[in-house]
Amino acid sequence: MERIDRLTELRARVADWRRAGETIAFVPTMGNLHHGHLTLVAEARTRARRTVVSIFVNPLQFGPQEDLAAYPRTLARDESLLGEAGCDLLFAPDPETMYPRGQRSQTRVEVPELSDILCGASRPGHFTGVATVVCKLFHMVQPDLALFGEKDYQQLLVIRRLTEDLAIPIKIIGVPTVREADGLAMSSRNGYLSADERARAPALYRTLKGAAQALEVGRAVAEVELEASEALKAGGLRPDYVSVRRRSDLAEPGSADRELLVLAAAYLGGTRLIDNLRLLRGS
Ligand code: PAJ
Repeated sequence: MERIDRLTELRARVADWRRAGETIAFVPTMGNLHHGHLTLVAEARTRARRTVVSIFVNPLQFGPQEDLAAYPRTLARDESLLGEAGCDLLFAPDPETMYPRGQRSQTRVEVPELSDILCGASRPGHFTGVATVVCKLFHMVQPDLALFGEKDYQQLLVIRRLTEDLAIPIKIIGVPTVREADGLAMSSRNGYLSADERARAPALYRTLKGAAQALEVGRAVAEVELEASEALKAGGLRPDYVSVRRRSDLAEPGSADRELLVLAAAYLGGTRLIDNLRLLRGS
């Protein structure tokens, strides 16, 4: 596998592949790779001749009180994992390559409304930071398709929306959440958990599962949200939100909507965990 840090070299390599008529799949990441990321790579390889992964801890999507400095950077290990996974090219730009004029004067891509709800309500500016870097990476790599995890469901929808709104000719593919044996969604942030917190963490998935089952048999949304929030507290987590939404656009569901999602964000100590589950109401 080749590792490239500079845009000119990236463009040259991608141009070679294009000339040879090869299709390109792209998986953007912030590194500290785990089996969830590697599943996206495996899926990418089934869908295109070439796979490009980016690793860039994007300062634009971290709030001032968030974990930018502490975010785990494990580039050497990530590089060998990607080589073993059959990735063709790792693009690992530094902040000066991504934001040569500095972050403040960088042109932004904003997806209104969808960016302001759920995680966006507690993390102002986060999804603008994500949309901006992903849009920029799309123009740098120019893939045919790009893969994103459903674990970050709101992020997946923000990216689908920006791709449609800006007529970017890249197919967006969502990949189901990869979990640990006890149900905890894999995440780079799980590494922040103490042994005691790690033991409590599966309560998030268990609670979402209980909520999904209650909704499937027709229980009222508001009641289920409240109960789930109480269950998280009882499990030692501090809920940020528990919310039942329409799967297609994350709007609040009407009584006729059946394809739903129950989403939650909760703190365990200083670590913010998110997860979601899909369900079919009345099934
Ligand atoms: P990061 O958290 O590194 O995640 C990179 C990709 O892996 C995202 O599409 C995410 O949804 C997916 N992913 C993470 N955990 C997963 C799991 N357990 N199962 C399946 N997929 C999983 O998300 C980001 O980085 C950044 O916001 C980024 C899109 C790279 C923009 O900076």
